[in-house]
Amino acid sequence: MATPPISSRAASLGTENAFVVLAEVNELIAQGRDVISFCIGQPDFPAPVHVQRAGIEAIETGLHGYTPSAGISELRTAAASYMGKMRGLEIEPDDVVVGAGAKPFIAYAIQSTTDYGVGDEVIYPVPGFPIYESQITALGAVPVPLYLRESRNFAFDPDELAAKITDRTRMLILNSPQNPTGGLLSKKDLEAIAAVLREHPQVWIYADEIYSRLVFDGQFQSIAAEPGMLERTIISDGASKTWAMTGWRIGFVANKSLAPLMTKWVTNTDSCASHISQWAAVAAISGPQNDATMMRKTFLARRDLITGLLNNIPGIECQASGGAFYAWPNVTEVCAATGCADSEEFRQRLLHEAGVAVLADIHFGHRVPDDGQHIRFSYATSDENIEKGVARIAEFVQKNSA
Ligand SMILES: Cc1ncc(COP(=O)(O)O)c(C=O)c1O
Repeated sequence: MATPPISSRAASLGTENAFVVLAEVNELIAQGRDVISFCIGQPDFPAPVHVQRAGIEAIETGLHGYTPSAGISELRTAAASYMGKMRGLEIEPDDVVVGAGAKPFIAYAIQSTTDYGVGDEVIYPVPGFPIYESQITALGAVPVPLYLRESRNFAFDPDELAAKITDRTRMLILNSPQNPTGGLLSKKDLEAIAAVLREHPQVWIYADEIYSRLVFDGQFQSIAAEPGMLERTIISDGASKTWAMTGWRIGFVANKSLAPLMTKWVTNTDSCASHISQWAAVAAISGPQNDATMMRKTFLARRDLITGLLNNIPGIECQASGGAFYAWPNVTEVCAATGCADSEEFRQRLLHEAGVAVLADIHFGHRVPDDGQHIRFSYATSDENIEKGVARIAEFVQKNSA
């Protein structure tokens, strides 16, 4: 018997293709295939031992019931001080809301600033984290892509931003350091963006700064530190990438006027983030930072390793990423040389013929016009995997080039 219909909203929901490709990779591995995966964006380290212990202690001392929806005051206080210090700002604990990862706040922010189906617009980076476009669409707002350009080290042109803002623009999503390109918004970029936004006081900013501790070139810079921007910026950060805590599910946002609303969204969805994980996050923020420092250093060394190796392959051009743990090489020439119609065919052939799993640019929105074809590597994997994986690609390219 046919089931009742689903909503058009649900039908419009996109996905994060890293998870889809990962399922494909896992199936191949289950069939006995040898695949080196560069797909998943999570540190390949355990959470620091003192963080693990804090979680265990929370369980053993009975700290595992519901918490206030905004989070335990110890974590809000620690996160406020941490986020403030990182950005040279004063952030009050009351302005901070804790969630089950940073991801849910993307939807909460869109829902808090746009109405369904009335033409409210949200500007977001392309290529970008696929959840932005998926949630903008599913929540009935209008997605307005803002293109990141290779010629600008994967930042966007502030004039292009200015041209895309209309009376209906409600929010601008920024992400720096960036997934998937590893690009950074420089101080100069942020000043230019702030100058544009001062002309448009109706626009909120969602500053996705989940990779704030993984900056390789210069200091981390936040749009919230630009004059007049703090009040209108939802700063988003979290534990996943900095302390290798992806599965613990702890993220936090800061914004004075939206904090009560964000808290209500949490009450309406998860009730609260995991109580156990919240205590672990207090330990992560307040405890020793050796592991976080070591991970950043390791990612930087791997960035240099993978960038050098990729640039040795004819037809592949890779800029050194400024942050996060992603390489985003231009593969336009190598696609042509190996007879692949595009980056997606190249990705599929790498997976099936070379045993290397990467993501293609189409997994991060439609391709930027006139910017060629790209694939994404997460280099949150060992040196050995990087060397072996890129050698397999080099061999594939050599064998298949005309
Ligand atoms: C740009 C970006 N924002 C947000 C997230 C979500 O992080 P969390 O694990 O805190 O939900 C990710 C994770 O991959 C990301 O790449």
